[in-house]
Amino acid sequence: MEWNCVERYQVQGGLPLVGTVKVGGAKNSILPVLAAALLNESREEIRLQQVPALGDVRAMLSILRCLGARVDQEGEDLLLQTADVDCDHVPDALMREMRSSIFLMGPLLGRLGRVRISYPGGCAIGLRPINLHLEGLQQLGAVIEEKGGCIEARGRLRGGEVTLAYPSVGATENLMLAAVCARGSTVINNAACEPEIADLQNFLNMLGARVSGAGSPVIRIRGVRGLHGGSYRVFPDRIVAGTFLLAAVLTRGCVTVEEVIPEHFASLTKLLEEAGAEVERGAAAVTVRAAEPLRALSRVKTGPYPGFPTDLQPQLLAALTLADGSSTIIEHVFKGRFHHVPELRKMGARIELSGHRAVIRGVRRLSGAAVQATDLRAGAALTLAALAADGESTIAGIGHIERGYDGLPEALARLGGRISREKSVPEEVLSS
Ligand code: UD1
Repeated sequence: MEWNCVERYQVQGGLPLVGTVKVGGAKNSILPVLAAALLNESREEIRLQQVPALGDVRAMLSILRCLGARVDQEGEDLLLQTADVDCDHVPDALMREMRSSIFLMGPLLGRLGRVRISYPGGCAIGLRPINLHLEGLQQLGAVIEEKGGCIEARGRLRGGEVTLAYPSVGATENLMLAAVCARGSTVINNAACEPEIADLQNFLNMLGARVSGAGSPVIRIRGVRGLHGGSYRVFPDRIVAGTFLLAAVLTRGCVTVEEVIPEHFASLTKLLEEAGAEVERGAAAVTVRAAEPLRALSRVKTGPYPGFPTDLQPQLLAALTLADGSSTIIEHVFKGRFHHVPELRKMGARIELSGHRAVIRGVRRLSGAAVQATDLRAGAALTLAALAADGESTIAGIGHIERGYDGLPEALARLGGRISREKSVPEEVLSS
């Protein structure tokens, strides 16, 4: 990246956010759906409707192109032609750009009978092991070798019964994708129940797969000979919806998210009601109004769906910095996911960390500061805190935020937030 291309958000806090925002397709649905497209060996195209412009989507598309897929854009739609995919190796540099590319293993193995990727390793939110992915694939007949930071898997996959030790979202998706074109039937027990799994099932079935049970802990897949083309629009992003609702809470405003599935983020709206915010639910819209400070929440635990999502923990934690009283959040999914805490402290938040537990003592106001986004959701949390804080803040590292939010500052500005992108000269250039 050129030094003069580095951007950050500049925020003048203190205004309540008010208005309506439409929520686009879920990043965590689109990524596995793009991986699933690799299973279509026919010449028919797949059309994905209204795909948001996200950093992670761009990274996944680079990988698909490199594997031999043709990708065209038509307005907000993507057209994928995957008949000529024949490369079994995801290059290291592309793999490092997006950790979730691990779920390319399932479809590539299923299609080509072999795959080679580099080990994804850890990332800013902590160690992200892949043992469940590898063990599950072995149970479906893959022979896996790990050498020199590389994982090679081969074998003609056959159906089997896999019981996950933990309902991992990524491992569930990887195994579903591996099993779709395997010989025979597969059962995945203790599968993740996240809505994105059901979205993947719907997409696969639209292409001719035979998958059932997604959304429950038992998923059944009957292997088919091949998939065909089709057109699909993924579910709305429940984490983006939750982020906007928490922006309303932090700034004591009133925001409606539209084109959403309210049930998908019911764990958040329930907590917000418990904390005293007003919540109005429609068929495909939710409004949150928070005129007063939130009441503290004595114990919030993140967990697999339908539990409270780890991907909203940083944003909720930011909201609780301004609550009345002392709240506790226990992070059960990614135990090291607290990189937003030191940055929030720079804004005057009072937070104590011990292991995977954060105790947040509400303060009356936050003050603007120069902060750094270290990962996607931490960055979103800091952006919301900056909108609530007195004075000016800058948020660096916005590439992380734009991996998963399409036009966040523009949407927040339409709700009345004073936020803009500015170019900045990075520290290392200034000090050289
Ligand atoms: C997905 C989401 C991510 C979300 C997470 C939890 C995508 C692209 N990403 O990530 O946004 O935060 O679900 O809802 O959909 N684990 C193992 N071994 C494994 C796999 C996971 O021990 O082989 C552990 C992880 O360390 C973690 C937990 O399982 O503690 C949850 O991880 P998982 O559900 O797999 O998350 P991801 O699929 O990586």
